Amino acid sequence: MTAAPVPAALPLLEIEELHVAYGQVQAVRGVSLRVEEGRIVTLIGPNGAGKSSILSALAGLVPPRAGRVRLGGADVTGLPAHRAVAAGLSLVPEGRAILGRMTIEENLVLAGEKRRERSALAAAMEEQYRRFPILGERRRELAGSLSGGQQQMLAFARALLARPRILLLDEPSMGLSPILVQQIFEAVEAIHREGATILLVEQNARLALAISDYAYVLEHGKLVLEGPSGQLAEDPRVQQAYLGGAR
Ligand SMILES: Nc1ncnc2c1ncn2[C@@H]1O[C@H](COP(=O)(O)OP(=O)(O)O)[C@@H](O)[C@H]1O
Ligand SMILES: [Mg+2]
Repeated sequence: MTAAPVPAALPLLEIEELHVAYGQVQAVRGVSLRVEEGRIVTLIGPNGAGKSSILSALAGLVPPRAGRVRLGGADVTGLPAHRAVAAGLSLVPEGRAILGRMTIEENLVLAGEKRRERSALAAAMEEQYRRFPILGERRRELAGSLSGGQQQMLAFARALLARPRILLLDEPSMGLSPILVQQIFEAVEAIHREGATILLVEQNARLALAISDYAYVLEHGKLVLEGPSGQLAEDPRVQQAYLGGAR
């Protein structure tokens, strides 16, 4: 009798031949990727490569032109945003999109009340205040008074309220000082250790490769390289283009 093959980890998210366009602009041109349950997978690539467009299509913010998206085997292609969230896809958008003139609490309530029963929402908010104590301490203050790093934590908390099956992070380190970038990556790792599956888009390729299991490189709307993150970090092409030359 031959030994049974070792089963591969279950693909939670599967994207097949995804195309996204804005009028005549072909932003994503046939991208296929997968994210296995419990993993951090990163998508790196230069500005304008189409990274945000992929996440936007997953989150229902732009309709895909073509292709298929499956989550846990179910077809979630082109769901509108509220149904994408209900299906388990939660996006932390580029630039965070915090409502600065509302309190931290109001930001969370607004994001959560469409999705959860009031009592469940209160419990979910407490859970996030425990995770990010600074948000709990400052819950009645305006979100705009938070530092950039704290606003990013609020954006994470808002996305996590929905208890997503997969968390889609779009450039969480953007615009932050190096020490805050470090803190943000630590927060991502902590969320992951609690069992979250994460698709991480980043321009900080070095840190993204360091915390992820698998990586894809996107250029001009197409994948040009993929592999285990440790392996890609050693790849001369990646070092040249994304890690500032040889180490
Ligand atoms: N709302 C939009 N309308 C028109 N073109 C867009 C829009 N959003 C993005 N694009 C274009 O699509 C391409 C990919 O952009 P984007 O997905 O934001 O890339 P990345 O996130 O990798 O920087 C770029 O050429 C960009 O100019
Ligand atoms: Mg982007």
